Amino acid sequence: MSLKDKIGAVRNDFRAALDKFPTDSIKIDELRVRFLGRKGEVAQLFSTMGSILAEERAEAGKLLNELKVEVQSLFESAVESVSKNQRKKETDSADYTLPGIDTPIGSIHPIEQTLTEVKEIFKSIGFSIAYGPEIDDEYHNFEALNIQKHHPARDMQDTFFVEDNAVLRTHTSNVQIHLMENEEPPIRYIVPGRVYRNEAISYKSFCLFHQVEGLFVDKNVSFAELKGSLDYFVRRMFGDDVKIRFRPSYFPFTEPSAEVDIWNSERNQWMEILGCGMVNPKVFETVGYDSSIWHGYAFGMGIERIAMLKYKIQDIRHFYRNDIRFLEQF
Ligand code: DAH
Repeated sequence: MSLKDKIGAVRNDFRAALDKFPTDSIKIDELRVRFLGRKGEVAQLFSTMGSILAEERAEAGKLLNELKVEVQSLFESAVESVSKNQRKKETDSADYTLPGIDTPIGSIHPIEQTLTEVKEIFKSIGFSIAYGPEIDDEYHNFEALNIQKHHPARDMQDTFFVEDNAVLRTHTSNVQIHLMENEEPPIRYIVPGRVYRNEAISYKSFCLFHQVEGLFVDKNVSFAELKGSLDYFVRRMFGDDVKIRFRPSYFPFTEPSAEVDIWNSERNQWMEILGCGMVNPKVFETVGYDSSIWHGYAFGMGIERIAMLKYKIQDIRHFYRNDIRFLEQF
């Protein structure tokens, strides 16, 4: 058989194999070895080159190369079309009517949601956010705020002592003192955080809760401004239909002082959400601010109370039970 005939025979064999091209990867590999392997049919033809007459060698080489390129490229496209078909089959066989796998999705705790909202509102009217220690000394939690030794809040009943002169802060007001110790006026901050009280637990009081403190110190700060800002806050938080009242009150660190109540339509009664007032000049003197130049207002609000009113939650203890049925609603 001439080389030309042998080439024709290999080409025919290969075409026949292509017509029944396998889909199984082991069989595909066998075919590759048979035609394109080191001792495959194409390679074997190349090995006969030595016995070809010199003047015919160039022509033979050209024909052989053409065969090799043809076999390689047809083989690769056959492999490609097999894998394409397989991919198509996989998608065709997916049953889109089967129910999906339900993955439980977590949600943001209502206290965190409320805190985020409070922060956004005060940021939009020029307040920065600061944080302070949850364990503090009696000086920052009480004394510097003009809360005297005999004040009932300093009683062991109301305060958790970690050790002598280290308390779990009973309010975020301690951070007012830290801020004023560290910065010169004017300052305008809100301070979100946890506070702790050793008091009787009820639907509206828990041993741990969250407050957002506010402190604004500048040259011309008035009670009217305090009232305006809190009124604005309450309206953005609860909407324009909210029923709100300012009530005169007493705090040692503010003078005059007030409390803000929101009407709880579920319980048909007022609910206190914050205390506020003009910073007591005694507090300014303690931190070394000149009270003849600087004036300020401060407030401290209870986040659980606000969340209860906003989401109509009847009992503060729900926030701390981690009951999925409760949390899922937010
Ligand atoms: N610290 C007070 C409390 O926990 C709330 C409070 C009242 C904070 C008046 C203030 C304020 O900053 O001016 O009951």
